[in-house]
Amino acid sequence: MSRIETIGDATLYLGDCREILPTLGKVDALVTDPPYGLGDWNNRGSNAGGPFDSEVTQAWDKPITAEHIALMRAASKHQIIWGGNYFGDLLPRTKQMFVWNKLIRGMHFNDCEIAWCSQFREACRVFDYSPASAEKKEHPTQKPLALMRWCISKIPNCESVIDPFMGSGTTGVAAVNLGHRFTGIEIDPGYFDIACRRIDDATKRPDMFVQLEKRAAEIQDALDLPVSK
Ligand SMILES: C[S@@+](CC[C@H](N)C(=O)[O-])C[C@H]1O[C@@H](n2cnc3c(N)ncnc32)[C@H](O)[C@@H]1O
Repeated sequence: MSRIETIGDATLYLGDCREILPTLGKVDALVTDPPYGLGDWNNRGSNAGGPFDSEVTQAWDKPITAEHIALMRAASKHQIIWGGNYFGDLLPRTKQMFVWNKLIRGMHFNDCEIAWCSQFREACRVFDYSPASAEKKEHPTQKPLALMRWCISKIPNCESVIDPFMGSGTTGVAAVNLGHRFTGIEIDPGYFDIACRRIDDATKRPDMFVQLEKRAAEIQDALDLPVSK
C-alpha cells in the first residue's frame, strides 16, 4: 500500500484490495463495481474489434476471482456487486438483484446493468436512469451518482460503506452525501487522485436534505418523540 488519505469520515487507500481488505474491520455494506473482464470477454466474443474495445481492454480490466469475492464477503455484512451477471459462477445463489434500466435501446452498450445483492431485502428492484445525464465523466466505466445513492439507500441500518474497486470514487461521493462512513480502495494512482478530489468536494458540500433529516432525527431523539414514517 503506498498511500492512505483521510477525508472527513472517509478513508481512502491506494493499493491492491486483495492486500488491504484483510487488514480492515467489517463494515455494514460493500457496494462496488469491480472490473468485469470485458476485455477478455470481448476478445472471445462477437464484440472483438467492436466499439467497446478501446474502452474495456484497459490494463485494470482483469476479471475478478473467487479470492476477491471471498475477501469482499468477509469484509462486510451486506454486499451489492455490480456486474454480477459476468461472474455469477463465483457468487452464491440469491433471490435479489438490482437492475439499472438505462432507458435507451438498441445502442452498442447494454440496455441495463445488473447488481448481485446478498439478501437483505427479498425483491428485485429496478432503477430507471439515462446515462446521458450531465454528470462529468472522469472514469471510462463511471457509474451515475444517482444510481449509487439509490442502491446504498436500500441497505437496512447502514452506517458504513466500503468500495474496494473505487475508480473515480462515485460510491464514496454517494456514501458521504448520505452521511455514511466510507472506505475506498483503488489501485490506479490517477483514479485514486480523482476519487480523493471528488470525495473531498462532497465532504465540503454536504447534502442539505440529508443534513435536515439527521437533525430532525436528533431532535426527535432528544425529545423522545415517536419517529414519523
Ligand atoms: C469498473 S471500475 C470502477 C468505476 C467506479 N464505479 C466509478 O464510478 O468510477 C473498477 C476499478 O477497480 C480498480 N481495480 C482493479 N483491480 C483492483 C485491485 N486489485 N484493487 C483495487 N482496485 C482495483 C481499477 O483501477 C478501476 O478503476
